[in-house]
Amino acid sequence: MGTTRTFRSAVEWRGDHLELIDQTLLPSEEEVREVRSVADAVDAIARLVVRGAPAIGVCGAFGVALGVREARPADLEAALRALEASAVRLESARPTAVNLGWAVHRVAAAARTARSAEEVFERALGEARAIQEEDRESCRAIGENGRRELAAAGALLTHCNTGRLATAGWGTALGVVYAKAEAGDPVEVFVSETRPLLQGARLTAWELLDAGIPATLVTDGMSAALMASGRVQAVIVGCDRVARNGDTANKIGTFTHAIVARAHGIPFYVAGPLSSFDPDAASGDRIVVEERPPEEVLQIRGVPVAAPIPVWNPAFDVTPAGYVTAFITDRGVLRPPFELSITGALAKAGRS
Ligand code: MRU
Repeated sequence: MGTTRTFRSAVEWRGDHLELIDQTLLPSEEEVREVRSVADAVDAIARLVVRGAPAIGVCGAFGVALGVREARPADLEAALRALEASAVRLESARPTAVNLGWAVHRVAAAARTARSAEEVFERALGEARAIQEEDRESCRAIGENGRRELAAAGALLTHCNTGRLATAGWGTALGVVYAKAEAGDPVEVFVSETRPLLQGARLTAWELLDAGIPATLVTDGMSAALMASGRVQAVIVGCDRVARNGDTANKIGTFTHAIVARAHGIPFYVAGPLSSFDPDAASGDRIVVEERPPEEVLQIRGVPVAAPIPVWNPAFDVTPAGYVTAFITDRGVLRPPFELSITGALAKAGRS
């Protein structure tokens, strides 16, 4: 396995284009992809070259700026048309993570009041940079809040990848792990492999190995046996869209871990920035769950692993709020009743 010597961040602006570490190839290859147009950005998001709710938000934000520049607008009107068209295309690249639409709308709103074509681009780029920087800070805050909340829990089970590859900073659920490690608190992580695309086995395992944090890989179906064995003190996962009542869309398999945790009396935490909360979704029924191609289940990296029968491949599930112990956010730990704590936090952030 390669090292992360070349790994700076999942999404980097390089003067006139974006660079993404190609997450479809990790951990066997560390390749950087250049994104120079809206089409490149949409393709990277849809194919999971870049993935994880905050990281696709950051990519989408820079994508809007790229779209304005790519159009070579002759005047302000043309620039604004390019701005809106890019925002629409990027927002629909993936439907579930609310960070994407949130970031793209934020960039469009910031650039809409510009007075020249050049200013539309500059404002879009400036807002994308601000979103990236804020996400870095959010990750820090989540890490610190989680470290305090989970001071007594050294052994954690996590799902999917919520770390440096999924955000602009050190991560959300994995940010809590990094914060514990940085503070010298004891921490070990059980990593569930996360079928079908193995974000746990490929990406979280790669990150934790690189960080020197003790980690053990389990398949998704092992979580009941693992929790029954008494080796896990808390489950901590990320989120793609949290409804106002606390229902939480996250990587497929999350709901299973939540049910298993409840059956064993183990606390189940969801970590994420407020940008992953959707003030427009009253409950999980309003969340659109992305369905992905059958090949992702029938094959692993192009190699058939199943007989060719029909497949149902939802990329996310929705864990009902009742299974969530608390949300560890950049604005503090939100506890039940979630309707109150979530709407309160959103209102405080000006997002009601
Ligand atoms: O399909 P993915 O890999 O984009 O799914 C990612 C997840 O479900 C993460 O848990 C979530 O986006 C939070 S990342 C901080």
